[in-house]
Amino acid sequence: MDPYLLGLRLGGRRVVVVGGGGVASRRVPALLDAGADVMVVSPKTAASLEDLAAAGRIRWEARGYRPGDCAGAWLVCACTDDPSVNAAVAAAAEAQRTWCVRADDAGLSAAWTPASGRAGDVRVGVLSADPEHGDPRHSAAIRDAVLDGLRSGALSAPGGYGGAGSPPVRGGVWGGRPPRAGTVAIIGGGPGDPGLITVRGRQLLAEADVVLTDRLAPRSLLDELRDDVEIIDAGKIPYGRAMAQEHINAALVSHARAGRFVARLKGGDPFVFGRGAEEVLACLRAGVPVTVVPGVTSAVGVPASAWVPVTHRGVAQDFHVVSVHVAPGDERSTVNWELLGGSSGTLVLLMAVERIGAVADELLRFGRNRDTPVSVIADGTLPTQRTINSTLEQVESRVAEEGIRPPAIVVVGDVVNIATEITELMRHVTAWETG
Ligand SMILES: C[S@@+](CC[C@H](N)C(=O)[O-])C[C@H]1O[C@@H](n2cnc3c(N)ncnc32)[C@H](O)[C@@H]1O
Repeated sequence: MDPYLLGLRLGGRRVVVVGGGGVASRRVPALLDAGADVMVVSPKTAASLEDLAAAGRIRWEARGYRPGDCAGAWLVCACTDDPSVNAAVAAAAEAQRTWCVRADDAGLSAAWTPASGRAGDVRVGVLSADPEHGDPRHSAAIRDAVLDGLRSGALSAPGGYGGAGSPPVRGGVWGGRPPRAGTVAIIGGGPGDPGLITVRGRQLLAEADVVLTDRLAPRSLLDELRDDVEIIDAGKIPYGRAMAQEHINAALVSHARAGRFVARLKGGDPFVFGRGAEEVLACLRAGVPVTVVPGVTSAVGVPASAWVPVTHRGVAQDFHVVSVHVAPGDERSTVNWELLGGSSGTLVLLMAVERIGAVADELLRFGRNRDTPVSVIADGTLPTQRTINSTLEQVESRVAEEGIRPPAIVVVGDVVNIATEITELMRHVTAWETG
C-alpha cells in the first residue's frame, strides 16, 4: 500500500528520539525547526546533540532506553544501532498508538521520513513508494532537483511560491504584481566561478527584471536569465569611477521606481571594496526598498582556490585585507603600512598587481623579511586561473616576467608555504587515485 503523506505540526509537542548517533543528529535539528519538544535517550550522543542539550534546546537522558520513555510522545524515532532496542521502542510506540520511525528497518517501520527540504515558503518532501526496497539516494536526488528548480526559478507555479523571504512568482508570467516589484537586491556573485554564488543570490537573480552587472561578476550566470530580462553592463558606464557610481545608483533607483525588480550583480561580496553600501544608501535615500545578499569575497575565496589558507594554526593568527587601489605614499592612501610591515599576520592585497613593487618596498622597509613568501593569484576560480609563488624581494620582477594582469589577489605571509605543501601532497593523492 502507498504511504499516506502528511505534514506534522510539532510545535510544543513531545518527540522522543532513542539513539544519539549520526541518524539522531540529522533528525533532531529538523524536529527543532518544527518546534518540537525533543527528548533524546542515549548513553552517549554526537557532539552536536551534546551542544543542543547544553544550550537547553533538547532534553538528553544520558542512559539506555527504558520502558515508559515513549509515554506522552506524539512521535518516536528509534535510531539506535541495536535492532533489538529499536524493536522494543517501536513496539512500545505501537502499543500506545504513537507513530514511530525506525531508522534501521524501513519494512518494520510504521512511518517513514521523506527526503525533505525547503525553498522559500515551500516544503518539499519526497518518499519512495517502496522505501523498503528503494534507494534513498533516488528520493534525495529528486528532492534536490525540485529544490534546485524552485530556487533557480526554472520551476514555478501560479501563486504557489512567493511571499516574504522567498523569490516571487514572476509577474510577467503569471500576471499580477510581483512581490519584489519596485525593489533592489544587491547581490554578491562570488569571485567568478558561477558555482560560488549563494543559493539566495541565484534565486533573486532568476527573478530579476533588470540586472546591472559588473566586470568581475560571474557573467556566465547571465546566460540563464529569461530573454526579457534587461542586462545593463555597469562596467561600461562611462564618466570615470565616481560619476559611474552615481549613474549606477540612479539606474537602480529609476528602474525600481518604474516597478521593476532590480538585481545588482557584483563580484565577490558587495560590502568588501564593492561600494555595495553606497548603492544601499542611494536606494534608501530615494525611498526604494533594498536588500543585500552576501557573497564569497575574493579576498578569501581566491586564496582558497589556490590552496592558500589565510589563517593556519601556529602560522598566522590574523589576516589583513587591504585595497591597494592607490600606492603606498600616495596622499589618498589611508593604509598603515608601517603596522602591516611590522605584523606577522597574512596580508591579502586587492588591486595590488600594478603597484606590487611599491608595496613590497614598503613592507621590507617596515620590517618584513625579504624571503617572506608571496603568492599572486590571477583570475581566481576561473578556468584561466594562474598562480605564481615568489618572495617579497622577487615578486615585482616575477609578476612582470609572467605578465600577470588584474584581477589578482596577492597573499603575503608564511601561509603560502602551506599551499605549497598541500599542492605537493595533492599531486601524490591524484597519482594514487588515478594510477
Ligand atoms: C573592486 S575589488 C572588488 C572586490 C570584491 N567586492 C570582493 O569581495 O571580492 C576588485 C579586486 O578584487 C580582486 N578580485 C576580484 N575577483 C578576483 C578573481 N576572480 N581573481 C583574483 N582577484 C580577484 C582583485 O584584486 C580585483 O582588483
